[in-house]
Amino acid sequence: MRNIAILCSGGDVSGMNPALKRFVEYAKEKELTPYFIYDGFEGLIDNKIKAARYSDVSGIITRGGTKIGSARSERFKQAEFRLIAKKNLDALEIDMLLVLGGDGSFKGLDLFYKEHKVKFCGIPSTIDNDINGTDYCLGVDSALNIIKTSIDAIRDTASSFSRAFVVETMGRDSGYLALITHLTSGSELCLIPEREYNLADYEEEFKHQMKNGRRYFLVIAAEGIEQNSQDIADWFEEKIGIEARVSVLGHIQRGGNPSVKDRLMAYKFIVNAIDGLLDGQNDSVICYDRFGFNFKSIEEVTSTKKVLDSELLGYVKS
Ligand code: F6P
Repeated sequence: MRNIAILCSGGDVSGMNPALKRFVEYAKEKELTPYFIYDGFEGLIDNKIKAARYSDVSGIITRGGTKIGSARSERFKQAEFRLIAKKNLDALEIDMLLVLGGDGSFKGLDLFYKEHKVKFCGIPSTIDNDINGTDYCLGVDSALNIIKTSIDAIRDTASSFSRAFVVETMGRDSGYLALITHLTSGSELCLIPEREYNLADYEEEFKHQMKNGRRYFLVIAAEGIEQNSQDIADWFEEKIGIEARVSVLGHIQRGGNPSVKDRLMAYKFIVNAIDGLLDGQNDSVICYDRFGFNFKSIEEVTSTKKVLDSELLGYVKS
């Protein structure tokens, strides 16, 4: 029997638990012995590696987060700790690794492969959907659905009180979550790092709308824009003359019950990743695009910043 391990790295996403469940099942189907590495690369260095059993994953498909923990590791960036990690894997004869994480994690793995020849496959997992080479990262759909539910609720209170709401979404320096949310929530304004804007350009139109009976505004602001959400709310009060509030959605966007899409994508990412490793893909990321699942090199995935879909961007009114 060959041994294979999985770990989660970076921000957790809803969909990691369904992926862990499928990992255990599919590894066993392929006559591999599955191992869990707890707490990301930190756990790999600290030897928190245990054989995974069916009972470890029973009932977790409905749960957000990750049962095996995640971490952002500074130590794995250093060669001396990667050597310790390699020794820990060798002691259990593990020579294949799956990593659910973002491009930062994949860069570390690339070095690990080049130094120690531990075969790995990265599975793009971040609500930010900002990994180059893949149209989809695990967790995005669940996050978008949480945001949708939150904004639908905020609309109720915004309309009752006649207020402007600035709703801040996560995404680090990517405006993906904000853009999709804007297009699917009927908000009045979308502010993202990928598009320059000047609030003054909207002043006349918004005042006109108020005069004609508009009772509330919804603004979706990505956390990566330069302006602070409170400053945007202040602008509505001062220039448009409407009471304004800020709602920072924060980490609720990362948690909660995984959506159907994320459960299915978790399933497919795992199956494709394990098949790829067994077929000789040694040092790659399993990506999903209009051609389906395909393997891309770490170089391709990490060397270029992902750009937002121009068609979707084009739908945003300036
Ligand atoms: O990368 C995922 C993400 O949730 C970003 O959207 C956000 O900027 C960041 O992680 C938050 O990090 P932390 O959980 O460490 O506060």
